[in-house]
Amino acid sequence: MAHQSDAFVFFGATGDLAYKQIFPALHAMIRHGHPEMPIIGVAKSGWNVEQLRTRARESVEQHGGLDQAAFAKLCSQLQYVDGDYRDPSTYLSLRKALGNALRPLHYLAIPPQLFPIVIGGLASAGCTHDARIVVEKPFGRNLASARELNNMLHKVFPEAAIFRIDHYLGKEAVQNLLYFRFANSFLEPIWNRTYVNSIQITMAESFGIGTRGRLYEETGTIRDVVQNHMLQVTALLAMDAPVHNDSEVLRDEKLRIFRAIRPLDPAEAVRGQYQGYREEQDVDKKSKVETFAALRLHIDSWRWSEVPIYIRAGKHLPVTVTEVVVDLKRPPQTIFDPFTCQECNYLRFRLSPNVLISLGARAKQVGEAMLGEQVELVAQHKSAEEMTAYERLLGDASRGDSSLFTREDVVEAAWRIVEPVLGDVAPPHEYEPRSWGPSEADRLFEGQGGWRNPVEFSPTSKSPQDRTDC
Ligand code: BG6
Repeated sequence: MAHQSDAFVFFGATGDLAYKQIFPALHAMIRHGHPEMPIIGVAKSGWNVEQLRTRARESVEQHGGLDQAAFAKLCSQLQYVDGDYRDPSTYLSLRKALGNALRPLHYLAIPPQLFPIVIGGLASAGCTHDARIVVEKPFGRNLASARELNNMLHKVFPEAAIFRIDHYLGKEAVQNLLYFRFANSFLEPIWNRTYVNSIQITMAESFGIGTRGRLYEETGTIRDVVQNHMLQVTALLAMDAPVHNDSEVLRDEKLRIFRAIRPLDPAEAVRGQYQGYREEQDVDKKSKVETFAALRLHIDSWRWSEVPIYIRAGKHLPVTVTEVVVDLKRPPQTIFDPFTCQECNYLRFRLSPNVLISLGARAKQVGEAMLGEQVELVAQHKSAEEMTAYERLLGDASRGDSSLFTREDVVEAAWRIVEPVLGDVAPPHEYEPRSWGPSEADRLFEGQGGWRNPVEFSPTSKSPQDRTDC
């Protein structure tokens, strides 16, 4: 049986990810009874542990709220090592801070170019034996660098000790995609090219890159969220049923579907950049990095042949919503009132900020005439005490459970899909903040249908959508 890690070390302790995700997750883990262990932040900020505690307090207050008892415990376990990642003495200080801990979990919340340096430093200070390592996405910058990174990690850690994190996999709503598809029998007969017209996945965010300019300049939307979050969602929607609920079997099915996805064609990819991006902090004045991407994917399989999958993700869009819409084909004949293409059957999976599954359908309006209206049958998920994705995933990693982490071959297969559209394949189209991205994104539909723009949903609205073009 896998052992429990006995210390948590996070590099990048004073950074954005630690602030937004790691401190709140650690606080929640402690509140929910996670075993006590040294928690050691490492960074090069010239800080001391008091400053890190203050930062942790602000972080927890802003992200979920502070529980006095849990926060006091977090502070008593928290230590801070300040130092340059290139300096061997940083790792000696870390080894000292680890004390009797022999099986630490190291979390690299740092830019990928620093991974080799930190891993080398950890190894030479004797901090890697029986240790686990969590690496943030994007895992590498392309297929070649992902392979290099895998080789480098494998020199120090066995695959079972490497946890490639994609926090989307820890989200309840994303896990529910898998559950809903394979715990029900009514879906499978229609889940194929005979009944499904197309699938759309939209990840819209109403905010810009904020203070993440430096990181964003290295990534852009495709590396930041498409190669990982969006493709993982695609896999859960499109894969075949796993023969049983085993992490390797699930990941084998994902790999199979990724291998069936055709590498993206630059002619089926539209990149956008919001107006004002180049004036953001740490952004090049001539930057060609995309803050929006719209893509059309094809899966070469019996189930999905000729069913386009549209993926769209971007910053500074009108709303913050991630959702999937699976459009079903229309009935073969119009017997009653004709209805437009806004009014057909579909399944909607809203993944955030609220979680819902709904079925779009036609129903008869009251009256003599056989006239219909569009209705949406909605199942909404409510939970007061839901674990955040990071709490879930850090807990899993510290127990050695890799089910919700990405395997080496799956990461590489995902890079193979996006590789042809990475970087400056064509200049990005400018778009106005709070718009749905550049109008060029509409051309992916070639006059057949259009994007379904999610709207903030209230349970009383008839249909949480508005379709731009038919
Ligand atoms: C991160 C991306 O992985 O996911 C961010 O780097 C993005 O750019 C974030 O904003 C969205 O995650 P969530 O959980 O807030 O939907």
